[in-house]
Amino acid sequence: MKASEIRELLKVTQNKEIISFAGGLPSPKAFPIEDIRNICNKVLTEDGEAALQYCATEGVTKLREAIAQRMNVKGMDVTYKNILVTTGSQQGLDLIGKTFLNTGDTVIVGAPTYLGGTNAFNSYRAKMEGIKLDDDGMNPDLLADKLRSLNLHGSNPKLLYIIPSFQNPSGVTLPANRRKKILDIAHEYDVLIIEDNPYSELRYDGTPLDSIYSIDKENRTIYLGTFSKVLSPGLRIAWTIAPRELMNKLIITKQASDLCSNTFGQYMAYEYLAQGLIDTHIEKIKTIYREKRDAMLTALDKHFPEGTTWTKPEGGMFIWATLPEYIDTGLMIEKAIENKVAYVIGAAFHADRSGKNCMRLNYTYASLDQIDLGIKKLADTIKDEIKAHEQKPDSQYKPDENGLITGV
Ligand SMILES: Cc1ncc(COP(=O)(O)O)c(C=O)c1O
Repeated sequence: MKASEIRELLKVTQNKEIISFAGGLPSPKAFPIEDIRNICNKVLTEDGEAALQYCATEGVTKLREAIAQRMNVKGMDVTYKNILVTTGSQQGLDLIGKTFLNTGDTVIVGAPTYLGGTNAFNSYRAKMEGIKLDDDGMNPDLLADKLRSLNLHGSNPKLLYIIPSFQNPSGVTLPANRRKKILDIAHEYDVLIIEDNPYSELRYDGTPLDSIYSIDKENRTIYLGTFSKVLSPGLRIAWTIAPRELMNKLIITKQASDLCSNTFGQYMAYEYLAQGLIDTHIEKIKTIYREKRDAMLTALDKHFPEGTTWTKPEGGMFIWATLPEYIDTGLMIEKAIENKVAYVIGAAFHADRSGKNCMRLNYTYASLDQIDLGIKKLADTIKDEIKAHEQKPDSQYKPDENGLITGV
């Protein structure tokens, strides 16, 4: 395993002088601290003994029931028995890898895709095959071509990893017709779909879409949800939804991993749902994030030079920017940090390290003022690269006398 590039970068961006578009962090201003304080007292007063105890590996039953109910309102048909509470959806990804992957198995992912997903699957020595995304996410025709050609070479991928709404890192969303087609293709090639869905409730425009799980008639989807982006990532409470026969395997895997997730956090999450606070809170953070998304799109329009493009997400936390082919954002990052602005390099999100001229920009963490200033600083950094290229076309890739590529 390699140290996560995002984690390494987050260390640099702890520096308060740097405007960070790098992490996938919610705005700290959006945490409901007072509500959590009150709930904390209530849980300790009314359920202290149980909340500080171990709980069942599957999770606290009343939380599982509340999650099932919430998911059913969104079009699923599940009971608490389909819900496994996990320590972040990151643990869900790890448990799926541990349960279903053998060395050399193939996992189909987006290009780009969430680095934490590929990290989880890589640790079970799976091989990633990327399908290039467009403005509507994964193209089913490209997926079918890839599966056909892998099949011809004797490889039957086990998992198809999809982040359907406001994808991390690109911000793009799979429309309903593609969701249906992808299910049909998964059926044809007998692949299990992993639907990782942390962002769908953070929709700022447009109409909500049915999850893949809810339209799957064949029980071939495992769904991951989390409180991280709509309440608090520090709580580390998330859930995996799976058909019963797959659920039993995941529970056994989790038992060996950590016995159970944080019981106290589960009681807190339950109370937050039971008191009906979550929907009001989501509306509140949507208002904050919508304004920030708009601020970043406006700043990009204003400052970014010709030859650059970016996605225009209807929700979530990220914009994906594409620069001229000759710019390597991995080489440019040092310059950007000198200019006191940070992003995540495009190659980090590609299993084959392509996407070198791309970058992920998070708009939920920085303040509105920082968004405009940071995008200006980033635009200036890009303009310097373009100027350097115009003066000396291959300068960015020239190795120095030691054969190292150090950038312009
Ligand atoms: C697509 C995706 N999956 C999973 C996670 C992990 O979330 P959690 O905090 O629930 O572990 C993230 C976090 O950024 C994410 O973007």
